[in-house]
Amino acid sequence: MILPPGTPVLRTSVRSASVRSRPPLPSTLVPTPRPAESPPAAISVSGLGKRFGTGPLVLDDINVTIEAGQFVCLLGASGCGKSTLLNIIAGLDKPTEGTVTVASGKAAVMFQDAALFPWLTAGRNVELALKLRGVPRAARRPAARELLDLVNLADAADKRPHELSGGMRQRVALARSLAQDRRVLLMDEPFAALDAITRDLLHEELERVWKQTGRTIVFVTHNVREAARLGQRILLMSSRPGRVVNEWTITDTGSRRIESPEVARLGDEITDQLRQEIRRNAA
Ligand SMILES: Nc1ncnc2c1ncn2[C@@H]1O[C@H](COP(=O)(O)OP(=O)(O)OP(=O)(O)O)[C@@H](O)[C@H]1O
Ligand SMILES: [Mg+2]
Repeated sequence: MILPPGTPVLRTSVRSASVRSRPPLPSTLVPTPRPAESPPAAISVSGLGKRFGTGPLVLDDINVTIEAGQFVCLLGASGCGKSTLLNIIAGLDKPTEGTVTVASGKAAVMFQDAALFPWLTAGRNVELALKLRGVPRAARRPAARELLDLVNLADAADKRPHELSGGMRQRVALARSLAQDRRVLLMDEPFAALDAITRDLLHEELERVWKQTGRTIVFVTHNVREAARLGQRILLMSSRPGRVVNEWTITDTGSRRIESPEVARLGDEITDQLRQEIRRNAA
């Protein structure tokens, strides 16, 4: 997006919708028609609903269009259905209603737990993903080194997971996700178990990797500051059932830091909304 000079670091716009009653969508939430010549959206979710068996509705009428190269954070209280939505986009689960389209085919997924093979070195863990993708044997080793280099782990290629810190393991997992060479990367609370300093470093790394590789990223978190630090778009979900009830767009994502006043301000605004959602749900 081209920004006029002097644009503040975080400029946000907000869209919201009621969660209680179901009036027609306010005009701000009705998807803008896409010009006929524009490329297809990277991810299209339309009228998506999900219930498990005969249980209650977990997701209801989710409509989201994500353009190629966007970094979208999916934020909501624990149990609101974030992972369920991510798993459906990943093709790991099926919606009860509605449709999901990922224009580039299958997406790469990164979970909270690095889930590396403990008997393989960091390099071999990444090489395995390249092998599954059909990369010839001779090309795998240099390609894995390049990916580990991208996440600043070139020196750790020969170490096994137990010799790495939690943050390093997550970086190997990120390199492995990138090795799948999918245009879309779905991340489910990948840094939740890490300490604040390591998480901060990984935010910088992820942002750099995103800008360098042009991936479309959907990042699930229940950490408001993390969403305000990373997202170009932040989608807030309600609980029981999960719906997208609010959206913030950040037009300039450059030079954001988790401790910056702009991130704090946006975080406070989102927290207020999240609290309202939680109160509404408890009422
Ligand atoms: N396989 C399943 N069978 C039955 N219910 C499920 C299943 N998976 C998830 N649920 C239910 O769906 C709801 C949403 O779960 P989900 O894991 O998507 O939440 P979440 O937003 O990712 O939560 P968290 O932030 O704690 O990870 C919860 O009530 C959960 O119990
Ligand atoms: Mg989850």
